[in-house]
Amino acid sequence: MTGPDPLQHGWWLASRASGLVALALLSTAVLAGLMLGGKLARRPGLARALRSTHEHTAVAGLVAVGVHGATLLGDAYLRPGLPGVLVPGVIDYRPLGVGLGIVAAYLAAALGLSFPLRRRIGRRRWLIAHRFTLVAYGMAVAHMLMAGTDAAIAWVFWPVVGSVAIVLALTGARVVGGHHAQALTEAEVAAAKAARAGKVQAKSV
Ligand code: HEM
Repeated sequence: MTGPDPLQHGWWLASRASGLVALALLSTAVLAGLMLGGKLARRPGLARALRSTHEHTAVAGLVAVGVHGATLLGDAYLRPGLPGVLVPGVIDYRPLGVGLGIVAAYLAAALGLSFPLRRRIGRRRWLIAHRFTLVAYGMAVAHMLMAGTDAAIAWVFWPVVGSVAIVLALTGARVVGGHHAQALTEAEVAAAKAARAGKVQAKSV
């Protein structure tokens, strides 16, 4: 037999495959989460399906990130050692790109694991913190593009670009929708104040 033996690169291949699975699951979690705030989620049954997809893919994505880092430990070429996998900047292979992945993993894990604490933290405060998952997602995408061997392959690159474009569009729609809703509330408050003032004036006449 000629050519490299894939079994010699088993850990590396496992790490790359689990990295791609992790990114696919976390992208799905982010997309489902963003859709939860849109009009689609008002359709009966769809909100529950989106919420379930969001939660399950987020948990599975974090597990896949764990497998991605753990299998890298076995890679005979990189030999990152535990500090190389846990501490950003220690590995001497594309340290910035890999470091972004490590920070993204910590951020995603902290935000995901804070879910059961949301009552104690307060729902509003937790939701504000939860928005930082978009930062973790952006870092994970940058990590894949800067450190990944497969980033140049079209069937890997274009789906990632496509999901980033949809995430940006949904985020933009939410920001605009949020301002619109806030403007409506402010207009309603002003109208209520004006009506109240009108009543008081009518009484005093
Ligand atoms: C949110 C967290 C993370 C996600 C979504 C993620 C995802 C990915 C993806 C999609 C790739 C490209 C795989 C390929 O090209 O075949 C990759 C590559 C890589 N990741 Fe991560 N990663 C994350 C965290 C980490 C962590 C914590 C480490 C630990 C050191 C790490 C180390 C690496 C390395 C060394 C590569 C280059 C492997 C290669 O292609 O040769 N990643 N990652």
